[in-house]
Amino acid sequence: MRKLANLLRVLFSGYRKGSANDGRRSPHLSPAASARSSDNRSGQMNGRGPGQASDPAAKPEGPDIALKIPVHMAVFMDGNGRWASQRGLPRTAGHRAGAENLQNLCRMCGRYGIQYVTVYAFSTENWNRPQDEVHALMELFVEFFHRYDRELAKEGIRVRFSGDLAGLPERVQAIIRQAEADSIQRTRLQLIIAINYGGRREIVHAAQKISRAVQSGSLAPDDITEHTFSQALYLPDVPDPDLVIRPSGEYRLSNFLLWQSAYAELWFADILWPDFNESHLETALRDFTRRDRRFGGISKP
Ligand code: FPP
Repeated sequence: MRKLANLLRVLFSGYRKGSANDGRRSPHLSPAASARSSDNRSGQMNGRGPGQASDPAAKPEGPDIALKIPVHMAVFMDGNGRWASQRGLPRTAGHRAGAENLQNLCRMCGRYGIQYVTVYAFSTENWNRPQDEVHALMELFVEFFHRYDRELAKEGIRVRFSGDLAGLPERVQAIIRQAEADSIQRTRLQLIIAINYGGRREIVHAAQKISRAVQSGSLAPDDITEHTFSQALYLPDVPDPDLVIRPSGEYRLSNFLLWQSAYAELWFADILWPDFNESHLETALRDFTRRDRRFGGISKP
């Protein structure tokens, strides 16, 4: 009997259990056990969250830790400009490297069984950047979908967009419509690109939508609840993020998912986005696993 138990332990030692999405997806093989695709492992790590300092030098523990996998993870693709200037390159080269790393992130999320990943690609405030940088970013969005469409399809990735999309150039709006329509049947991972996105603007838009319903008589002011409000946001079917990752050494939310992040776990690190790789993600997931998410209640015994 002991022999059989040992054999089973060896066979399943690379298996991770206990995900935050228990019941939604079956447990998955440890990505650490699969081939690591990332080749940019040079970033300095100093992962932190409020009230919890992560040891930057900490190596991932043994392979048998039961990782909790966030259902929805949100990521700032921040630090591209600094990454480029450190190499004597134009800022746009940093955004290009950042776009390539987005593809890498999608692969990693697929392997870990994360169901939704939202990335901050362009904020409502990013129009204040020099015109040539804004133009290069818009071109990069279009190019990304032409370049990676086949791989996104192969990985089963549905692409969605969140933001004030009507304020984008028509060329970008066209690619958004096409990417959403082409990928609508894919189910492995939802990649949500926040573009011309601002948390405050999203809240204002929701308030306008609700006001119109009140004005038309279909909704009474006293019937407005937090749920009504959530349903008026850009992507009402997408669950709130469990984990928000911000690399680049900045410690703020910068108008990203303000309503939805009310109870998200925050993870910060001194790595520039193009350098963010699987070992950083694994550290973030280990830190997330250790967090005690009480949602205002008390710890479960
Ligand atoms: C912030 O870093 C990054 C952005 C405003 C742009 C992010 C966009 C991409 C990575 C392009 C790829 C996106 C898609 C959807 C293909 P920063 O440049 O402000 O960094 P800095 O703080 O070092 O200047």
